Amino acid sequence: MDFSKAKVGFIGFGSMASAICDGLLIKDVVAPSAIYACARNMDKLRAACEKRGINACANAGEVASASDIIVIAVLPQQVEGVVKAAADALKGKPLFSIAAGIDYERYVSYLGEGFNHISTVPNTPVAVGEGIIVAEATHSLTPEQLELFEGVFGQIAKIEYFSSELLSLGGTGAGCAPAFVDVFIEAMADGLVKNGMSRAQAYKIVPQMISGTAKYMMESGKHPGELKDAICTPGGTTIVGISALEETGFRYSLIHAIDKIMEKKHSM
Ligand SMILES: NC(=O)c1ccc[n+]([C@@H]2O[C@H](COP(=O)([O-])OP(=O)(O)OC[C@H]3O[C@@H](n4cnc5c(N)ncnc54)[C@H](OP(=O)(O)O)[C@@H]3O)[C@@H](O)[C@H]2O)c1
Repeated sequence: MDFSKAKVGFIGFGSMASAICDGLLIKDVVAPSAIYACARNMDKLRAACEKRGINACANAGEVASASDIIVIAVLPQQVEGVVKAAADALKGKPLFSIAAGIDYERYVSYLGEGFNHISTVPNTPVAVGEGIIVAEATHSLTPEQLELFEGVFGQIAKIEYFSSELLSLGGTGAGCAPAFVDVFIEAMADGLVKNGMSRAQAYKIVPQMISGTAKYMMESGKHPGELKDAICTPGGTTIVGISALEETGFRYSLIHAIDKIMEKKHSM
């Protein structure tokens, strides 16, 4: 299958859809002329489409008929109305949903059987082709449609499949946690600035340190504890920093943050 010829549609073109679209364009996955999008506010949509050279469509039906694979990128509470209204045009097309909390069963309750959909949670680093797409293992894409989904979007993200029960938790780890990392970067920079470094210098070294550390762990296959131990010289300075982090509950802060997100998700 030649994925570069795929026509990709977006129903809804807000923050997350634009991030996915930008990733596809930056990584040359498909040509701008092969991307179609619709939203409610036509002026805003036209401006976003013109900037990227992609096609602005009048409605979801138009996007569906022009596209080989369709990203459902409206807010979770808007999904039901949008897919029901465009059901005839969506039938038979692979639907790649990014709406948080709208899983396989929910789609079946909206559309009934006979539609081809997969529910996922992507994260914003897709915009630079370094994302994660947490996908529900239960889906109704045909093998060819799944190949198309993975062939196109696998070029801008690592796709990981989870059981329906773990989809929401996977979404927390992949979709919410980039904001934790942003806060970490900002706070690290605050510490460096406090000790005399310029903000600009801090924002050069901290993100690279994080990206390199993560890459080293993934490529070496080493346990994070082992990598940490290798930096902590006995009686040295790094272990003093680690000890200070423990004093203020750094690890527990992160565990607690995940607990609170899941508590909130379960109450919705
Ligand atoms: N942001 C993230 O980091 C993130 C991460 C993972 C998953 N998600 C999921 O991605 C989805 C979109 O989130 P977002 O942050 O991109 O939201 P957003 O910026 O508010 O975008 C929503 C888009 O849907 C459009 N829309 C609303 N009703 C529509 C309709 N009837 N027909 C066509 N388009 C319609 C909106 O158009 P107008 O602006 O013209 O109203 C807008 O373009 C959500 O379901 C969210 O759960 C987001």
